[in-house]
Amino acid sequence: MSVPAARFDILQKRLSEHSQTQVLRFWDQLDDQGKQHLASQLEEIDLDLISHLIADKDEKPDFAAIAAAATAPPAVRADGSGAAWTTEQAFERGEAALRAGEVGAILVAGGQGTRLGFDQPKGMFPVGPVSGRTLFQVFADRLLAIEALYGKAIPFYIMTSDATDAQTRAYFEANDYLGLKQDNVRIFRQGTMPAIDAKTGKLLLASKDSLALSPDGHGGTVRALKRSGTLQDAHNRGVKMLAYIQVDNPLANLADPTLIGHHLLANSELTTQAIRKRYAMEKVGNLAQSDGVVQVIEYSDLPVEAAEATDDNGDLKLWAGSIGIHVIDVAFLDRVANEASALPFHRANKKVAYVNEAGERVEPTEPNAVKFEKFIFDLLPKAQNAFVVEVLPSEGFAPVKNADGAENDTPMLAKKAIVDLSRKWLEAAGATIAEGVMVEINPRFALTPDQLREKIPANLHVDEDRYFDRGHFDRE
Ligand code: UTP
Repeated sequence: MSVPAARFDILQKRLSEHSQTQVLRFWDQLDDQGKQHLASQLEEIDLDLISHLIADKDEKPDFAAIAAAATAPPAVRADGSGAAWTTEQAFERGEAALRAGEVGAILVAGGQGTRLGFDQPKGMFPVGPVSGRTLFQVFADRLLAIEALYGKAIPFYIMTSDATDAQTRAYFEANDYLGLKQDNVRIFRQGTMPAIDAKTGKLLLASKDSLALSPDGHGGTVRALKRSGTLQDAHNRGVKMLAYIQVDNPLANLADPTLIGHHLLANSELTTQAIRKRYAMEKVGNLAQSDGVVQVIEYSDLPVEAAEATDDNGDLKLWAGSIGIHVIDVAFLDRVANEASALPFHRANKKVAYVNEAGERVEPTEPNAVKFEKFIFDLLPKAQNAFVVEVLPSEGFAPVKNADGAENDTPMLAKKAIVDLSRKWLEAAGATIAEGVMVEINPRFALTPDQLREKIPANLHVDEDRYFDRGHFDRE
């Protein structure tokens, strides 16, 4: 079906009003399908918004002033200090919520994973050091273990993007939804944003009939939850809060009762896990409180003096680094999803492949484009009683961001972190493990160190790589 002249005229006029007609440069060379494709993409994008973002005239927060006045956010530390309740009380409160079926899980898996350079969605990356299980499997195993323990289903909401949707759906279908009930798994797709040429502000073409589009950031979750009916699904199931994690962190304690309990006891609408920064200028988002509002100040916006400021004990005042693990109230998401511009767009300079004026595809070696992304942590200032819960990196944070060989956040380091934690649990339960041997525990075998102690024989010695799979000792 060809694109009618009237439709083309409207498109051309809109583009011309925004000085973006270059995207029609190859129109006459396109077949009907190509024309349809490009026209549909162009009709989907909000050119007014894009022009506004290109102009970049919005007033920026004065992060230097905010940071100078900022204090640490309300938080409970890893040793349990800082809250008016104990960690045990939080654990029990979280368990009650899980038993009541009030918790859903949301996994954001729409990123393009460019740094890792894996040619499938990151969730399909085999991260299990012994099992070879994928990130998706690790999280599904965890949910199955929690469901079995508390006797209530946890709906699993997985956000994909154009970059990951088809392969993710195919993967879940081909693998029997990883043991989860299909009815409890809901895959929904986030929106996209066009990339612009960093020098000229012009929309880029990825091919002659296609804009260079990318996912609109993990902050796109809010809109996508609403548009896809997923928020409504949560309501229908009586789910009151969503445990949010990012697909790249195999140590993420998805639907952790203690975190959920802290969230409830703090009467918070948005609770976020954080790690203690190892040094002042560490490249993580900084959780800070200023004027009673909790927010993330990106490391690039944090002046050195504020980063290095210490408290009476000589510890960093802004100690809390954001790691993208949250508990978010469904009612809060309802409220913010209805605010049109709930979250701001951030600009990121990235390498984006494009088609040049001569129609040749260019793979840049340096950042050439600006991408626009929303960040989920920008919800923090909008939340009542935002609260921070410290987790030790060894127990909750080992992201897979970069390819092996990089200095940090590599698959090799994530696998090592899994082995180290498994080893620690096993040794605490009385096992001895030979030097250099890799161990890994499926959450369905043991979800906690206490469960593990009940499961393994006394004086267990492990002298070769071993995966403690479900029913491991039942079979022996
Ligand atoms: P990152 O910011 O690390 O980006 O995402 P990425 O796309 O995975 O990796 P690079 O930067 O291209 O190398 C953190 C988490 O947020 C999700 C990712 O899937 C990951 O779980 N995310 C990111 C989305 O779901 N959508 C997005 O638009 C961006």
